[in-house]
Amino acid sequence: MKPQRPRLRPLAALFLFALAATFVQADDRAAQIAQATAALHDQLVATRRDLHEHPELSNDEVRTARVVAERLHELGFDEVRTNVAKHGVVGLLKGAKPGPVVAWRADMDALPITEANDVPYKSKTPGVMHACGHDAHTTVGLGVAEVLSKMRGEIHGSVKFLFQPAEEGATGRDQAGALLMIKEGALENPKPLAIFGFHTSPELEAGVIGYRAGPAQASADGFNITIRGKMSHAASPHKGIDTIVVAAECVTALQTIKSRRIDTFEPVILTIGTIHGGTKQNIIPDEVKLSGTVRTFSEDARTQIEQLMRETLAGVTSAYGAKYELDYERGTMVVVNDPRLVAATLPSLRRAAGETNVVEVPKRMGAEDFSFYGRVVPGFFMRLGAGNKARGITSEGHTPTFDVDEACLEVGVKTAATALLDFLDQHAAAK
Ligand code: NI
Repeated sequence: MKPQRPRLRPLAALFLFALAATFVQADDRAAQIAQATAALHDQLVATRRDLHEHPELSNDEVRTARVVAERLHELGFDEVRTNVAKHGVVGLLKGAKPGPVVAWRADMDALPITEANDVPYKSKTPGVMHACGHDAHTTVGLGVAEVLSKMRGEIHGSVKFLFQPAEEGATGRDQAGALLMIKEGALENPKPLAIFGFHTSPELEAGVIGYRAGPAQASADGFNITIRGKMSHAASPHKGIDTIVVAAECVTALQTIKSRRIDTFEPVILTIGTIHGGTKQNIIPDEVKLSGTVRTFSEDARTQIEQLMRETLAGVTSAYGAKYELDYERGTMVVVNDPRLVAATLPSLRRAAGETNVVEVPKRMGAEDFSFYGRVVPGFFMRLGAGNKARGITSEGHTPTFDVDEACLEVGVKTAATALLDFLDQHAAAK
């Protein structure tokens, strides 16, 4: 036994040296990324404000895509593909060292909302506003592209940037930005080993990064219901089939799917968002139209709900002699963050954002078409804290007073750059 001891010492010393070297390297890199990001401060704010002033609706991101493509060209990207999924841009940055590919996704579209904020960078396009922070996402994506373009010598492999259009237009599956990006080869040639991205979150203060392993955001389906009856004079309801009464019964009955037909522990939302019918006080209309959305966290529940909706509508309408049509459209899937990828990335997030600034967040019923990428390669979709209670930046996304604390831009760039480089280091041998 004894003769082995002297041999262990050099080994242990070597191990300690390697460990120390790793830390020094990590520290050096953290400092390098922090410095490069800090130098971009003014540019990040200017880019975000420019994009904010010029918001473009889903599938109309012409100017935004041009800004993105021009910047990637300026940064010396090895490949810049434009017009992917209409206005998407896919850029590839090759590192100096061999290794695999990792992807970062940023969405670019705005919403049909009139901005109510009185800020110098207020939207200049009437009725259109970056009310979901995609201007910040695009800005951070470009910031990461710039920081990494200056660190090519350190990159083991390549980083692929997906600037995606039409995230908000995701209900029509063929129109959905992410799905169309995948269909048009954004995740091929080369195929990434994993994909990362994040969404601004006003509930988290700027500086904070939120994460959740496993199912994190709900699926979102859309539906249209038409109820058909028979028109009659309002004073002779027995001569018609009153679609208003039938529709009211349907709305109530459909709510019992969640409360009485699905396992209590299965998160489900069934919302009727619109109801239209009738033309005059004294006419019983022969048709009422309803539309809404279904949110779930499992494919089984999703399939079950569609079936239960058909059963419920068939039962209620037949009781009154009415008929129904249900057009159920599957939209985005559940965002599932790969647990192993999340666990492997958390140390990078903590190093970049600060140990206490990386927090686990609850599941959300809000949907994201990032979910589609996660079905092709392991994905991790984070929350980028963008709120600032002290400054009153607390408005929810999709409202006219939404804004972000621009301090989130630097945090986003640092965190994303660190996560991507660390991922490539960890998988350097995988190519
Ligand atoms: Ni959004």
